[in-house]
Amino acid sequence: MTLSWLPSYQKKIEETLDALFRERYSFQSDHTEVAFFEAMEYAVSAGGKRLRPVFAIITYEYITQSEIPKNFLEAIVWIEVIHAYTLVHDDLPCMDNDELRRGKPTVWKKYNETLAVLVGDGLQAFGFELLSRWKNITLLAEIARDVGDLGTVRGQVRDMFLDQKNISLDELFRLHDEKTGWLIASSFSAWARLAGADNLLVQVFRDFGMLLGRAFQLQDDILDYEWNTDQLGKKVGKDVELGKGIVAKIGIQESKKLLLDMEKELFSLLKKENIDEKKLEDMIVFVTHRNI
Ligand code: IPE
Ligand code: IPE
Ligand code: MG
Ligand code: MG
Ligand code: MG
Repeated sequence: MTLSWLPSYQKKIEETLDALFRERYSFQSDHTEVAFFEAMEYAVSAGGKRLRPVFAIITYEYITQSEIPKNFLEAIVWIEVIHAYTLVHDDLPCMDNDELRRGKPTVWKKYNETLAVLVGDGLQAFGFELLSRWKNITLLAEIARDVGDLGTVRGQVRDMFLDQKNISLDELFRLHDEKTGWLIASSFSAWARLAGADNLLVQVFRDFGMLLGRAFQLQDDILDYEWNTDQLGKKVGKDVELGKGIVAKIGIQESKKLLLDMEKELFSLLKKENIDEKKLEDMIVFVTHRNI
């Protein structure tokens, strides 16, 4: 599906990332550093949908009712940098053992496993460095919790070590909330807070982000079951084979029904809170109907 406004937002993010990496690695470096820095950039480079920073920008613009200033973008892309680290580690042979991401070899496949571990480490710290530009310690702590041992990492631990065939649907949702939902929720709530929203509105964006994150991972599982590697740019078909994810648990038809229910619930949430913003509505439809 195409959204007329989305490419210009994605372009802003691409350009910001590009400039940040250019500036960061502009000095003369030795042979080993060159390969490392190239791998750092490769992990973040083109091909991603950039949805998480897009969520942040549209939240900020909705609350302030003005276009996001250029210098804010530099802090916003922390989300994409952290997201890239999670993907680099997610693809490792000891994790999902995937060789293809965004239509290109994964970082460990293109370089090597050791470098991929270190690239992930480097990206995570770089993401927090960018976030610290806001000089907001509370926010920094909140986000560290969302992506750390109680959030994304805990979800990935469950994903790796739980026998997903023998857990309840609720437990599986908890796993998905942690591994995927919390970073997406942060993309909304952190920027709502920074844009000046009161606590109540921040919580509304948090709830919206949690549910959208859940829907996002559900559609990821559905695509893994019924879409194809060429179009997705990553290998499909492994989840059900390994008994992982929602489709393996409740079947494809039930999964699609559940996704439709989530889509409706997301629209209701905006309506109930009187949030009339076309771009947020577009994102609901994009996330629940995407095939990329
Ligand atoms: C993939 O995320 C990882 C999941 C949480 C399912 P995206 O589908 O947003 O990946 P890119 O960044 O667009 O490649
Ligand atoms: C990835 O979930 C979640 C994180 C990276 C935290 P998946 O393993 O389902 O993502 P893909 O399918 O490899 O993109
Ligand atoms: Mg995984
Ligand atoms: Mg994976
Ligand atoms: Mg997946």
